Amino acid sequence: MRVDWIGWTPEGAVVYLDQTLLPTQETYREAHTIEDMIEAIQALRVRGAPLIGISAAMGLTAAAAEQQPLTLEWLEGAVALLGASRPTAVNLVWALDRMSRVAEAAFESGVGRDVLVEALRSEAQKIWDEDTAMCRAIGEAGAELLSHGATVMTHCNAGALATGGIGTALAPVYVAQEQGKTVEVISCETRPLRQGARLTCWELSKQGVPVTCVVDGAAGAVMAMGKIDLVITGADRIAANGDSANKIGTYGLAVLANAHGIPFYIAAPRSTMDLSTPSGADIPIEERSGLEVDAAPGAGVFNPAFDVTPASYIKGIITDRGIIDPPYTESIAALFT
Ligand code: MRU
Repeated sequence: MRVDWIGWTPEGAVVYLDQTLLPTQETYREAHTIEDMIEAIQALRVRGAPLIGISAAMGLTAAAAEQQPLTLEWLEGAVALLGASRPTAVNLVWALDRMSRVAEAAFESGVGRDVLVEALRSEAQKIWDEDTAMCRAIGEAGAELLSHGATVMTHCNAGALATGGIGTALAPVYVAQEQGKTVEVISCETRPLRQGARLTCWELSKQGVPVTCVVDGAAGAVMAMGKIDLVITGADRIAANGDSANKIGTYGLAVLANAHGIPFYIAAPRSTMDLSTPSGADIPIEERSGLEVDAAPGAGVFNPAFDVTPASYIKGIITDRGIIDPPYTESIAALFT
């Protein structure tokens, strides 16, 4: 599968598919400045933990190429602004840290402006290319869990649209399909912004994977009917102990899956793991505008965009280095040795 929802224009700006308009419109927009990219990230035009990191790195490069004068102070300020645009997905600061290190090294060695911009572009491209490879590795590891005829439940969109490759939670499905297995997906709608209904259903249908959408509240009933073999979701940040933040509603799915004896897996690359965050209680959770929730005027709205699934509910984490088991404090640490 070719990822064509993000790219460079011939002039070096970022071009991206506006995911807020899917599935009805496939509209591409350009980001030239830091403000353009922050707007795209905050409005969820580009979204999904790995794609946010890739987009920020590319956006920083595009803006740097047009910045006069291009100083280390400007770059540090731009990194800080981009890094604060969404708080939960650690891939964002992970990618920007890499970009900062490249910028600092270039300034230290006193290279010229063009060499500096090229170094940034090459690091951004590397972050994207590495994500493509990590998605593929997750897919190959996770496909072993899927037998011919299996039905997987997922939540939000942790597919190709959310990454620079074939996705995280959906990668095993795509690889299983390549291996000739028929695998069906039940996608939870994912209120309030409906990433499951709009995005997961769009990309799976496009790839010929049978997909059925259910409203979030139907997940337990569908599990009770015996229709689900396993649940796989993505993650925005995995703490050192395995507690995993993902789209709001994931925690509820994990509890339901455990109550029904259905294995619940998280699929994520190492760029989503944050060893400096000890547990889920330390993960910053984005709270979004109450306007996203269609409540009667006069009612208060609390709209957390993510929740944390405790490690104890997670049967395994499908990573780009294979499937890891509990205790996660040890198995996650081992991925970085
Ligand atoms: O708010 P979003 O749409 O960016 O949330 C995305 C998710 O929660 C995904 O499941 C997660 O980022 C993993 S993407 C491979």
